[in-house]
Amino acid sequence: METIKPINRKDIETLCDWHKEHVAINFPDSIYKRDLFKEKILADLNYPIFSLMVKLVNKKKMIGWLWLKKEFDIYKNIWYCDLHYIHIAPKYRGRNFGESLVKLTEKWAVKNSCKEIRLGTDANNQASIALYEKCGFVKKRILFEKKLCQPKRKHNISKK
Ligand SMILES: CC(C)(COP(=O)(O)OP(=O)(O)OC[C@H]1O[C@@H](n2cnc3c(N)ncnc32)[C@H](O)[C@@H]1OP(=O)(O)O)[C@@H](O)C(=O)NCCC(=O)NCCS
Repeated sequence: METIKPINRKDIETLCDWHKEHVAINFPDSIYKRDLFKEKILADLNYPIFSLMVKLVNKKKMIGWLWLKKEFDIYKNIWYCDLHYIHIAPKYRGRNFGESLVKLTEKWAVKNSCKEIRLGTDANNQASIALYEKCGFVKKRILFEKKLCQPKRKHNISKK
């Protein structure tokens, strides 16, 4: 039987280990910065206002985690829930644990007066796209990126 428990400091090293895969899947051209990630988690743990960090536990083992943030949209004039982070340990995937964390997100968002849940994922992350679609999420925006080449700089060291 799985249970939900708050994240504590002892969990942080595992979350940082998992973050490496998360970066590779969702931000493939970014650099995994373990210490920076740890700092961000600690900041929210120390000051957990407008956020939730929980873990999914199976037989005393952490098998997944979820990080939510409550944000305000000044244009729509609403509070929304940023599904900031969701992760299930690889060998537990495909067993609806992701779906149960998304359902928990919905409960938390409603309880905290949020009118929407928002999230972003990599366009090639098929598992997360399948998860969100089965949970009733719809695609609203597409983020475009274009890599640019910088012209080679000429060394301009003036000789005196
Ligand atoms: C995304 C993630 C949380 C899903 O967790 P999960 O426990 O496997 O989720 P579920 O079992 O509830 O649902 C996953 C769905 O994706 C489907 N799926 C898995 N891999 C897939 C793939 N390569 N292509 C298409 N669908 C896929 C599963 O079949 C399942 O759908 P179904 O229930 O209709 O069969 C998990 O894969 C994960 O932690 N990934 C790494 C971190 C990550 O990318 N997080 C999301 C960032 S936005």
